[in-house]
Amino acid sequence: MKIMLFSLLAVLAGCSDAVDQFVYSGFTGSNLTLDGGARVTPSGLLELTNGMVRLKGHAFHPTPLHLHESPNGMVQSFSISFVFAILCDYPDSCGHGLAFFIAPTKNFSSAFWTQYLGLFNNKNNGDPNNHIFAIELDTVQNDDLQDISNNHIGININSLYSMKSRDAGFYDDESGDFKNLTLISQKAMQVWVNYDREITQINVTMAPLNVEKPVKPLLSTTYNLSTVLTDSAYIGFSSSTGTVSGKHYVLGWSFGMNSPAPSIDIAKLPRLGQKARSKVLQTILPIVVVVFLLSAGTTIFLCMRRNLRYAELREDWEVEYGPKRFCYRDLFHATEGFKDKHLLGTGGFGSVYKGVLPISRLDIAVKRVSHDSTQGMKEFIAEIVSIGCLQHRNLVQLLGYCRRKGELLLVYDYMPNGSLDKYLYGKEGKHTLDWAQRFQIIKGVASGLLYLHEESEKVIIHRDIKASNVLLDNDTNARIGDFGLARLYDHGTDPETTRVVGTIGYLAPELARGGKATPLTDVFAFGMFILEVTCGQKPVMQNTEDDQLVLIDWVLEHWHKGSLADTVDIKLQGEYDIDEACLALNIGLLCSHPLTSVRPNMRQVVQYLNKDIPLPESMPTHLSFFMMAFIQNKGFSPCIITDPSSATSFGTISSTSLSEGR
Ligand SMILES: *[C@@H]1O[C@H](CO)[C@@H](O)[C@H](O)[C@H]1NC(C)=O
Ligand SMILES: *[C@@H]1O[C@H](CO)[C@@H](O)[C@H](O)[C@H]1NC(C)=O
Ligand SMILES: *[C@@H]1O[C@H](CO)[C@@H](O)[C@H](O)[C@H]1NC(C)=O
Ligand SMILES: *[C@@H]1O[C@H](CO)[C@@H](O)[C@H](O)[C@H]1NC(C)=O
Ligand SMILES: *[C@@H]1O[C@H](CO)[C@@H](O)[C@H](O)[C@H]1NC(C)=O
Repeated sequence: MKIMLFSLLAVLAGCSDAVDQFVYSGFTGSNLTLDGGARVTPSGLLELTNGMVRLKGHAFHPTPLHLHESPNGMVQSFSISFVFAILCDYPDSCGHGLAFFIAPTKNFSSAFWTQYLGLFNNKNNGDPNNHIFAIELDTVQNDDLQDISNNHIGININSLYSMKSRDAGFYDDESGDFKNLTLISQKAMQVWVNYDREITQINVTMAPLNVEKPVKPLLSTTYNLSTVLTDSAYIGFSSSTGTVSGKHYVLGWSFGMNSPAPSIDIAKLPRLGQKARSKVLQTILPIVVVVFLLSAGTTIFLCMRRNLRYAELREDWEVEYGPKRFCYRDLFHATEGFKDKHLLGTGGFGSVYKGVLPISRLDIAVKRVSHDSTQGMKEFIAEIVSIGCLQHRNLVQLLGYCRRKGELLLVYDYMPNGSLDKYLYGKEGKHTLDWAQRFQIIKGVASGLLYLHEESEKVIIHRDIKASNVLLDNDTNARIGDFGLARLYDHGTDPETTRVVGTIGYLAPELARGGKATPLTDVFAFGMFILEVTCGQKPVMQNTEDDQLVLIDWVLEHWHKGSLADTVDIKLQGEYDIDEACLALNIGLLCSHPLTSVRPNMRQVVQYLNKDIPLPESMPTHLSFFMMAFIQNKGFSPCIITDPSSATSFGTISSTSLSEGR
């Protein structure tokens, strides 16, 4: 109906060049005259300024109005309403505002984009020859224009000094209360301007879009507009942004001469959100979307990388080990990402790194064991943790563990003095331990092994006793490391394929034949360890002629010749207790006896070492009998020590252990 009316009026306007009514409920298809930043957006908003600074924009009804009753008559009564909205880039500042006006010309090229709202300049402001009537919606307080606030509406004649102004707001019809409105609230608001020619009264009223025109006007004044306005005059809107940007929109507009302005169809108004945003959509949104996607992508990438980097394996059964469970990220940071400079050594089971725990600043050693299967892991972790709960002065304290895919990390107390082998085989004169220290170390390891075999809750077999697995703490007290680890590699698999775990030279013969690890296989290895510490030589040595020199054979030879003392480490330069050294060598030989039935258990070993009980009387007989057989009958000899070819049948662990040590 109103659209039809508009069309009709437009046609009339086109024909008669005189209009007494029009209504725009949105500006799609309208024929407004626009300049500066003004345009009609695709959705039908009249956009006076688009958010750029130092911009002015004007929109005019295309044809002039004939306001006077006759060329020299009085200005007739008229009525105007419009819906506007102001959007700001910053929440509380927006330049400069907009104005509805009636003017004799469409040429505002000399007007300023500053506080003059695109209507005047500093020269013509206040000039009666302007013949301009305007209603300003001012969002900046300019003291030079005597503005009352940065949120006011004013009635202006030929000037931006308002003849009357008020803060934006309206009187509620029901309560009569004044209610504030904020021009830059980004909400659409309606303004009514009424002029009564009889009493030359000008009323200005405003209200939110959903509120009917209030009865009480916001501003009311009298001014004889017949003395101001020309007969032929253009009506329209002006806006400017100055140095602070702002977007000024008119959504609908209606005019009536000698009649109320036709009501604007609120339902047909272009959507401001869409509208405003469509502008935003075209420019800022793509950038925002790209930035968002990039940052989201980056975040996801970083999260994934971080998750991958710090990913752990956790299963339900581990809950009970909570306190013993380390977070991979902590270990990662403790070792600065397992940097090479923190590498302490690489042994049979993996690499060991030194680290410092983030919060406690506790020094730790982290062993990374690569392990593919999760089979048996539960039992293994249970055992490791139960050992970790044990405390013994001759065991390296296990602090906890962490599991990742294909990897197990064991966290130990850091032993600043490192492993024993480096003292035994270090450069001559350097690091060499004296006899008392060596004997103490032998006793300490014996005590630790006894604890594992008999004193802990269940029998724990170490499986890889050797000098490089014995660490020295601050007091050169020996601590056994790596206990229980070997078990990880031989649980429940087919006996045919069971890998022999241990180190060549320390392997009990029955173990090399495919037997099971028992406490007595540990005793065998311990025997070799005693000989190693006492003689300062490795169990198997390569001499210059590429022959293998087997330590136990050599010691046994001297034992037969009665010159056992000659085997004691020459680095001691004769400074040792000969009784203790011979005791140690005899115990070493006894422990490493090829027949398990001859080997003592660890409790007996500790007693021998403490001289609580003497070595068995019959020992020499036993020894000579079996050892001779052991030496002479290579067929009987199961001893891998003397048969290098058999070394190849051992698992990789053994080989690396042999070559690397810890
Ligand atoms: C639009 O207005 C201009 C004058 O500003 C006029 O020349 C033109 O014919 C009008 N077009 C229509 C479609 O009304
Ligand atoms: C607009 O007014 C200026 C002077 O204020 C004048 O120089 C210019 O030619 C006018 N433009 C038009 C299109 O009339
Ligand atoms: C309305 O605005 C005026 C001036 O800004 C202020 O003093 C008054 O407290 C406001 N009233 C309400 C209800 O917000
Ligand atoms: C202005 O408002 C007053 C008060 O509501 C009213 O009496 C008067 O008729 C109005 N004048 C015009 C021109 O609308
Ligand atoms: C308004 O001004 C015109 C022209 O100056 C005059 O003819 C008219 O009487 C004035 N009207 C009133 C109400 O003063």
